[in-house]
Amino acid sequence: MALERVRELFNLPEEKVDKEIVLPERLEELEFENVHFSYGTISHTSPEREEESISKSQPRDESISDNPVLKGITFRAKRGEKIGIVGSSGGGKTTLLRLLAGLYEVDEGRILLNGKRLTTAELIALRRQVAIVEQEPYLFNDTIYNNIRFGNGRASEEEIYSAARQAYADEFIRRLPDGYQTEVGEKGANLSVGQKQRIAIARALVKKPKILVLDEATSNIDSISEEFINRTIFSLPDDMIVFIIAHRLTTIWCCDKILVLEEGKIVEEGTHQELLRMNGYYKRFYNVYVE
Ligand SMILES: Nc1ncnc2c1ncn2[C@@H]1O[C@H](COP(=O)(O)OP(=O)(O)O)[C@@H](O)[C@H]1O
Ligand SMILES: [Mg+2]
Repeated sequence: MALERVRELFNLPEEKVDKEIVLPERLEELEFENVHFSYGTISHTSPEREEESISKSQPRDESISDNPVLKGITFRAKRGEKIGIVGSSGGGKTTLLRLLAGLYEVDEGRILLNGKRLTTAELIALRRQVAIVEQEPYLFNDTIYNNIRFGNGRASEEEIYSAARQAYADEFIRRLPDGYQTEVGEKGANLSVGQKQRIAIARALVKKPKILVLDEATSNIDSISEEFINRTIFSLPDDMIVFIIAHRLTTIWCCDKILVLEEGKIVEEGTHQELLRMNGYYKRFYNVYVE
């Protein structure tokens, strides 16, 4: 299962990426337009799930979507923006950002890049420019160095160290007896979750993606390291779009735009200040948070 996920997230077999597909060099704007999605849909990346969903959806009535997870998502993200996403657990935040990486096909609606609708093949190609850090990152049974390098096989040694510094990982790595050559062991057994998260962030940064997705990526990191990582995130090159899902609102406060996602719908959207003034969902999260 873990391996399957890694393949999904990073390591799409080359034959699946159509070399003919050329995406625009400059990412100006990314847009979701009335996107609907349920996991009953056929996934083109996971054969197991595909079989499962084909069998359960025969005969398939297109008008009845079993358990829709996203129900008409519309938003726009511009080059250089940091977009925060908050909302109750199970609301569809992770799913939303996985659609971006072409892991699943939408049931209805469109995903547009620079105003042009992306085909499924283009979404798959886009994955090469997307880096996702999830809450429980997967590390390979290999050295820390190679785990970071996995984000970008062409990265120089200096680029790898630099990404680790940006992810606030360099210091702890150097304190290990074998430093960067430390074997992380099965599932990174010798490292804390917070350390694994920082290695995963370094791996994402070394890829120099156009779209960076941090899905509760700092949830197990102490607040001082998190503050440092936040500074990194907010000083990333402004040709990137960064999506940040976080429970801690301090990570979200400075975002250019915050989407509040509840039960598959965007119920509020705006800056921190605007959302507080709305006195709704976000304000309630905020009240719980500052209590
Ligand atoms: N791989 C999956 N297959 C089927 N259902 C899923 C899968 N992943 C998530 N879900 C369901 O989709 C809904 C949204 O989940 P998720 O996107 O993880 O929300 P969030 O990230 O906001 O907690 C939940 O009801 C969850 O159980
Ligand atoms: Mg999630």
